[in-house]
Amino acid sequence: MKDFRTAIAEIISGKVSEISLEEIEETIEIPQDSRMGDFAFPCFKLAKALRKAPPKIAEDIAEAVSASGVFDRVEAVNAYVNIFLPKNEIAEETLKTVLDEGDVFGTSGKGAGKTVIVEYSSPNIAKPFHIGHIRSTVIGNSLYKIFQALGYDMIRINHLGDYGTQFGKMICAYRRWGNREDVEKEPIKTLLGYYTKFHEESENDPSLEAEARSIFVKLENGEPEEVKLWQWFRDESLKEFNRVYKMLGIEFDSYNGESFYSDKMPRIEKELEDKGLLIESRGAQVVDLEEYGLGTALIKKSDGSSLYITRDIAAAVYRKETYDFYKNVYVVASQQTLHFQQLFKILELMGYEDASSGSIHVPFGLVSLEDGTMSTRHGRVVFLEDVLTSAVEKTREIIAEKNPDADNIDEIAAQVGIGAVVFNELSNNRIKDYTFKWETVLNFDGETGPYVQYTHARCASLLRRAGDAVVSKAKDLTNIDYRYIASENAHELIKLIYAYPTYVELAGEKYEPSVVTRHIIDIAQAFNRFYHDEHIITDNEDEKVAKIALVLATKTVIKNGLALLGISAPERM
Ligand code: ARG
Repeated sequence: MKDFRTAIAEIISGKVSEISLEEIEETIEIPQDSRMGDFAFPCFKLAKALRKAPPKIAEDIAEAVSASGVFDRVEAVNAYVNIFLPKNEIAEETLKTVLDEGDVFGTSGKGAGKTVIVEYSSPNIAKPFHIGHIRSTVIGNSLYKIFQALGYDMIRINHLGDYGTQFGKMICAYRRWGNREDVEKEPIKTLLGYYTKFHEESENDPSLEAEARSIFVKLENGEPEEVKLWQWFRDESLKEFNRVYKMLGIEFDSYNGESFYSDKMPRIEKELEDKGLLIESRGAQVVDLEEYGLGTALIKKSDGSSLYITRDIAAAVYRKETYDFYKNVYVVASQQTLHFQQLFKILELMGYEDASSGSIHVPFGLVSLEDGTMSTRHGRVVFLEDVLTSAVEKTREIIAEKNPDADNIDEIAAQVGIGAVVFNELSNNRIKDYTFKWETVLNFDGETGPYVQYTHARCASLLRRAGDAVVSKAKDLTNIDYRYIASENAHELIKLIYAYPTYVELAGEKYEPSVVTRHIIDIAQAFNRFYHDEHIITDNEDEKVAKIALVLATKTVIKNGLALLGISAPERM
């Protein structure tokens, strides 16, 4: 697509040599208020270099930009140069590109030949898969889709929490109090019960802890009995997780979790030792990171068992050696920030500079519930599966009320209900804590998933009403009279569609899916203003064709944007 920003920057650059072309390009703004132009160039930065007052500079630049003859109108207002694009030119450029590219509009080859790993979801085996896990799961899935759209080769990893001393406790508890049928019937709830019982009982009987520890050592040494039980717990848990992944349409390329690295840790421990990084502290082995303000990292306990961070070091080295990643992205809660800072620092100190500098922690804030925070220990957990199921049920009721004769209501309710939860998750800046509220999630009029999906379905319905003949003329684009889509509403909408690919890029740069979410909300709102103020299916054939071309482009961009969030776009709802 023609890049107007670069075109403007080149013209300005011809006039001022004091700052670089890139810097000019970065300085160019898109004003909030479009009366200030489609693009604006603030001249403050140049004042020092040119030793002139910014308004004077703005005047000179405005003159040069205007003389290029490329733009509709160029104005100097105080320190700004406001530039108005020729409406029909941007309309033509945008519609041609979107209708020609269709599903791939917004993608690029920027990342070709580079591998990006996204690690996300990573729940712990035998623990509840609750509403708190939705964050890593859907943010990670969206980042995967965004990077894929930017052309990177992608690897999706679910780094399951399937190892550690708690499995010693679980096996110990199962042997004492458990039975097979209960686990098979309701694996996670049952296993969690054993775990809780273990803690209660061990308060009176400290020997249980020692027993659990020795069981874990057996597990680490590969004793068949212990391994068999652990494997079974893992399989049963995965069955539950997979039900949720299926509802969300989420997949992984690898489920190599913590246990996968158990035989890869001795090498790491040896390297740490050879490099003089390990020191002894009260019988345990640690890496001292005090001089970097990162405390100390416990690598190996006094009983010889390995730790979370040790497995992460082994995982990062393995990933670098196996995939030669360009980026290794961890989508994990902000509570683990120190853990990742320690991890990346240790990798660097070990000499794995590339693995360290290519690794990125993408943190996010907490979810809480309206009636207080969750607590696994107090049994106050909300299972993610239950949230998704009730979202679908609630949506079904809303649709049945609004549109009683809708066909395939089950399919639509699933797409809209689950889409609503996912969209809600991705609409705020990820670092913010937020409270999960049903009214916000399922509101069809607010800035929500159902609202955006509804706008998409509205576009689909307009295309059906216009009929195939008009739609194919619109797709053809040879005889579009762009004057019919030159109103303020239409122009605003076109500019937002035009800008979509830059927002996909920005979302990738910031590891922030909400950049895409916000942009498609803007597009949906701009479209609905256009729809309410103007007659689309008119008797004037040329007008109808031009407007339907814009409807087609809107529908395409909304669908593509939703796909990047992992949400489907129903044709009717
Ligand atoms: N299983 C961990 C948890 O639930 C998250 C794992 C994060 N990933 C990692 N490579 N450490 O807290």
